[in-house]
Amino acid sequence: MTVRRASRIPGLQRDDLVRGEAFIDGAWVGAESRISVENPADGLVVGDVPDLGAGEATQAVTAAQDAMPGWQTLTGKARGQVLRRWSELMLAHAEDLARIMTAEQGKPLAEARGEVAYAAAFLEWFAEEARRVNGDILTPHASDKRLTVLRRPVGVVAAITPWNFPLAMITRKAGPALAVGCTMVVKPSELTPLSALALARLGQEAGVPPGVFNVITGQAAPIGDVLTGDPRIRKFTFTGSTAVGKMLAARCMATVKRVSLELGGNAPFIVFDDADIEAAVDGAIASKFRNTGQTCVCANRFFVQAGIHDRFAAALAARVGGLRLGPGLIGAFDQGPLIDARAVAKVRAHIADAVGAGARILTGGQSATVGPLFFQPTVLVDVRPDALVNREETFGPLAAITRFETEAEAIRMANDTSTGLAAYVFTQDMSRGVRLSETLECGMVGLNAGLISTEVAPFGGVKESGMGREGSRYGLEDYLDLKLVCANVA
Ligand code: SIN
Repeated sequence: MTVRRASRIPGLQRDDLVRGEAFIDGAWVGAESRISVENPADGLVVGDVPDLGAGEATQAVTAAQDAMPGWQTLTGKARGQVLRRWSELMLAHAEDLARIMTAEQGKPLAEARGEVAYAAAFLEWFAEEARRVNGDILTPHASDKRLTVLRRPVGVVAAITPWNFPLAMITRKAGPALAVGCTMVVKPSELTPLSALALARLGQEAGVPPGVFNVITGQAAPIGDVLTGDPRIRKFTFTGSTAVGKMLAARCMATVKRVSLELGGNAPFIVFDDADIEAAVDGAIASKFRNTGQTCVCANRFFVQAGIHDRFAAALAARVGGLRLGPGLIGAFDQGPLIDARAVAKVRAHIADAVGAGARILTGGQSATVGPLFFQPTVLVDVRPDALVNREETFGPLAAITRFETEAEAIRMANDTSTGLAAYVFTQDMSRGVRLSETLECGMVGLNAGLISTEVAPFGGVKESGMGREGSRYGLEDYLDLKLVCANVA
């Protein structure tokens, strides 16, 4: 059954990019039972999607399984051409995609435009890589043997993707998966399914064959059970919280799936006395306040050396105090709403805990008047190392500063966490920069840089921040199995 709804998102060139159906086996699939999608900026419903369950998830897996032989036997060049067309269509419809994203996720329109370009870049990058999935010939261990190592697509891929980057977290997985010949079932967050479905629509127009890329909407639990349990799925990839990631990964082990996890972070942002203060403040704004503090690579713990502490804190507070808050579809703002009331409560709890233990608020600290999910971007100083904000990821617009004296102290505090995704270091002493880059326990270091994400570099963490890497040539490996052919030539 097909259910079409008129778009409730203003200013679109193409209303048909707002889909009210899931996408399975190249067909649009509706359902009576619906999930409403709300704009967090004002709580208004901007669309609705089918509330599908285990039966439809299983159908999607069957479609992906059936599509696998045809897709994997295409040449890499042919698969790359489809991915390239898809990327080009994303860019051609960038404004519509950005508006859909802002409407359901809340990020400022400028950031949504940035994410569309970022997301399209993953398809473009992996379109180019599709032709370079080469194997190896090894020097044999015996004169009558020949050893060849093939790199084969791992099989059907299932992806569960988050609300904070509704397009890029899908294309960062779909790009490499489809490039090497895998097919895929994606379950987007129920908070932001419209971007995923618009992406599927453009994929269909780009010529992605039926069954190769499926998007299933609905509640996480029944669909998640299929995606982690169905033995036909050979690779499971998840971006989200560490707690959920651990649970999903454990379920995948019953059928020994390959698993990639991109989980929580608690990134330290370390500013040394010799830092360029302006660059450090720019980096802090970019890292901490991107997506209103809702990225897993957001700076979470600011460690600032005593000699520069007061100047850095004052300069950061002045910049943060000037950030403009508002609904992204209505004006040019720097910060949007948080995703839901729980997110607001967490920011509030982290502030209360820190202030209760002696921290001072330099700017912000309260809900904003714009709407219930808007929170004033906040800077705290005199935050104790053991404060809640230093122990858990805030995922909100709160910069909490802790003072330190020595490099050893900064490293000890920075590494004192169970996660290790990103870390940021600001210093003009390059020897120190190299030392810290090597010593910090994390998957990515921004050295005098607050924005580190790009399709050409590996993205991922160590410790409980996950496993595997996304983006770049390293990102292909997670979708490939090595196969040895040992030929007897006697
Ligand atoms: C994330 O928050 O999960 C991704 C952020 C990024 O790609 O920069």
